[in-house]
Amino acid sequence: MEALGAAGGLLLGLFLLAFGLYCCYVRYIHAKYDHIPGAPRESFLFGHLPILWRKQDFMHDFFLQWAEKYGPIIRLNAFHRVSVLILSPEGVKEFLMSPQYPKDRLVYGRIFSLFGERFLGNGLVTVCNHEHWHKQRRIMDPAFSRTYLMGLMETFNEKAEELMEKLEEKADGEKEFSMLTMMNRVTMDIIAKVAFGLELNALSDDQTPFPHAVTMVLKGMAKMRMSFMQYMPGNQKLVKEVKESLRLLRRVGKECIDQRREAIQNGKEATLDVLTQILKGDALEGTRDDENILDNFITFFIAGHETTANQLSFTVMALAQHPEILERLQAEVDDVLGAKRDIDNEDLGKLTYLSQVLKESLRLYPPVPGTVRWLEEEHIVDGVRIPANTTLVFSTYMMGRMEKYFEDPLTFNPDRFSKDAPKPYYCYFPFSLGPRSCIGQVFAQMEAKVVMAKLLQRFEFQLVPGQSFKLVDAGTIRPLDGVMCKLKPRNPARGCRA
Ligand code: HEM
Repeated sequence: MEALGAAGGLLLGLFLLAFGLYCCYVRYIHAKYDHIPGAPRESFLFGHLPILWRKQDFMHDFFLQWAEKYGPIIRLNAFHRVSVLILSPEGVKEFLMSPQYPKDRLVYGRIFSLFGERFLGNGLVTVCNHEHWHKQRRIMDPAFSRTYLMGLMETFNEKAEELMEKLEEKADGEKEFSMLTMMNRVTMDIIAKVAFGLELNALSDDQTPFPHAVTMVLKGMAKMRMSFMQYMPGNQKLVKEVKESLRLLRRVGKECIDQRREAIQNGKEATLDVLTQILKGDALEGTRDDENILDNFITFFIAGHETTANQLSFTVMALAQHPEILERLQAEVDDVLGAKRDIDNEDLGKLTYLSQVLKESLRLYPPVPGTVRWLEEEHIVDGVRIPANTTLVFSTYMMGRMEKYFEDPLTFNPDRFSKDAPKPYYCYFPFSLGPRSCIGQVFAQMEAKVVMAKLLQRFEFQLVPGQSFKLVDAGTIRPLDGVMCKLKPRNPARGCRA
């Protein structure tokens, strides 16, 4: 009994000693970073976390208030970790434009797998090792070159046309539907077709296994942001479904890869899509790393459709709220396209006001709010010394809404992006900047323009009253209520030229 008591005492002593040492370490970390401006910590150990836990709503607006109060370089404490929010053009330029600062392993590692099932792995978005990233990027770049993308216009038109047919069925001025859902379906069909040669037909039925699995994985990704969510009893069904969905995506990916490999080996002319590029690169390097290929299969599905769908639905929302901008845009579309059905590259170049509207939509509603880097060595930025081994956070959402960088920032004003307006240097980066910027930027903007132009050409849209226009960060920033709309044909008498 005595021995048991002594062992217990010893354990307690060891625990107290470890805790004491940990507290000393936390104090040492505080001392290292406390010269950096920031809100007062609420708790010695938890740092700013209690404030964030209490603020259940959209965190980015909350940080924006801190930026207004404490300046563009802000410290965020959580236990012994400190991240630094960089909201100055000088900092953005320095850290994002150089390959010297890798993505933060701790942050991107969190989406390597989802509930223990491999998810984005070492795919192009999440890979942190520069050499491994560079190898993959070099291989895929040709499938995103402007000349290659010009050849995709036919698919963009075809799929956008299918969307218009679905919308025509709803366009009686009464039916209410989520624009976000419709946009998600069309962008999923587009990425499946052009990146992997798959006909998903999500527009016709998104309950078929593959589109459903993609939706489930996105749901899981959103939920996973809450720690310990997967262990809560009420969530077991979702966790199981997400894991099954991930296995299904990888299984379909594997079949798709095997078929294409066989076709290439049999000398069949394969289209130069993302999959062919990935397989060619893999053969060239002699790696045959199928897990990495599957990482990219999933990466392109996830990165390549939801972002554009969010952008499109936010744009519809903003236009419906600004009739004068909508009218000007419709006039441009009528002028450039008339009743023409097949939009070509030349038309896209002429739709300049539409480009401005899409850019302005990304300023106020960027689907990807920012990015994260790892600083290995001490650095001084804007006169503030940032210690080595620090996580740096960048936010186009916050900078896009700061008075310092954009006059009257909360007003939706596409003229900010007119040809003669001053360029927003290093304070607007919805596709990120530098070497790790979005490979799909041109793709996304061509796709968005084709879909928006057809929508504007054919329909009048109205927002269903009573919905909130709140934003939610569920892995990407999206409209909380899905942009509920009613549609009417714009000019029923107008025929479409082939
Ligand atoms: C409006 C649409 C889109 C937005 C706003 C967007 C935004 C972004 C951003 C901000 C990043 C950097 C992410 C980070 O630093 O963690 C990124 C990376 C990436 N995006 Fe996009 N994206 C869009 C569309 C697309 C499309 C259509 C594709 C594919 C066809 C795509 C594929 C990728 C890939 C593969 C990366 C990783 C690039 C690399 O690190 O080399 N994105 N995107």
